[in-house]
Amino acid sequence: KYLQEEEVSEECRELISSLPTEKDWVPGNLYQYQGFWHPSKYLQKILTCQNQFQARASDIFLVTLPKSGTTWLKAMVFALVNRTTYDPKSTQHPLVSNNPHELFPFLEFEPRNDDNQVDSSPPPRLIATHLPLVSLPESVKKSACKLVYLCRNPKDNFLSLWHWHFSNNPTTEKWEETFEKFSRGVNLYGPFWDHALGYWKQSLENPERVLFFKYEELKEDPGNHLRKLAEFIGFPISKEEESFNVVDQILELCSFDHLSNLEVNRTGKLLSGHNKSSFFRRGEVGDWKNHLTPKMAQKLDEITKEKLGASGLTF
Ligand code: A3P
Repeated sequence: KYLQEEEVSEECRELISSLPTEKDWVPGNLYQYQGFWHPSKYLQKILTCQNQFQARASDIFLVTLPKSGTTWLKAMVFALVNRTTYDPKSTQHPLVSNNPHELFPFLEFEPRNDDNQVDSSPPPRLIATHLPLVSLPESVKKSACKLVYLCRNPKDNFLSLWHWHFSNNPTTEKWEETFEKFSRGVNLYGPFWDHALGYWKQSLENPERVLFFKYEELKEDPGNHLRKLAEFIGFPISKEEESFNVVDQILELCSFDHLSNLEVNRTGKLLSGHNKSSFFRRGEVGDWKNHLTPKMAQKLDEITKEKLGASGLTF
């Protein structure tokens, strides 16, 4: 049931017919809704959760653009919140036997019926979303719930997104075309820059509500970022926990090497149909250098400079 094509409502059909459209990277179309690009099958889900979802002050939202480290952050937040129930060192830990996405649902991909994993989970509910700030359900915007935003430099984000779309069907034909689309903001949940900027501004205006992270910073200093994250979501690391290195234990549990080598992440598919292994590629900063031409890199740098301007956000 999860992520299957749902009946498209009359409301959604009318909306789709009124929206700007472009060809998607893969067969199908993208539609620009509230300034961001979505395939039609997601639009119905977005509308439904915008109409129905009721936020709670205790909710913890994890917001990302696809391919910016969602899987890693899901694992870390899950491990942090549940560390008294599940010892991060244990070989019985749920993250050893489940892909992080199975433990941490997406707001807009959950069916709005009795099987809804989001609605039924005990507080704090851990909820992921790729929605831009402008498209969050009103109840989320009004609630005191916490939002953790993670993004990644656009060159690596583009590259990771490219591999995600085409890894099962390697093609170089699409390389130039998708790069051009990404540069214009035409990609899943794009434009990259507007997505990041929305949450960046919120994090400055409302630092107690939005915590803004970059993948590169997490890689550089994971320990201190994990501490900051724990504090922000209301699960601070105690002195006693520091004395037995709980931070390192969680980082090890959630590390790329550990997660990507687990049997549960090497084989099989999620209910969404995605191969579990597809969420783990290289997990490095700067892989774009091996793929983008200097001209492409320069182009993205120029767009980044122009779009982010004096906001203080840089990549
Ligand atoms: P690469 O394609 O650059 O390797 P998402 O989780 O949002 O789908 O993002 C996927 C990206 O995060 C991929 O990047 C993937 O390899 C990387 N990733 C997955 N798990 C990770 C982890 N535990 N630590 C660091 N990076 C990770």
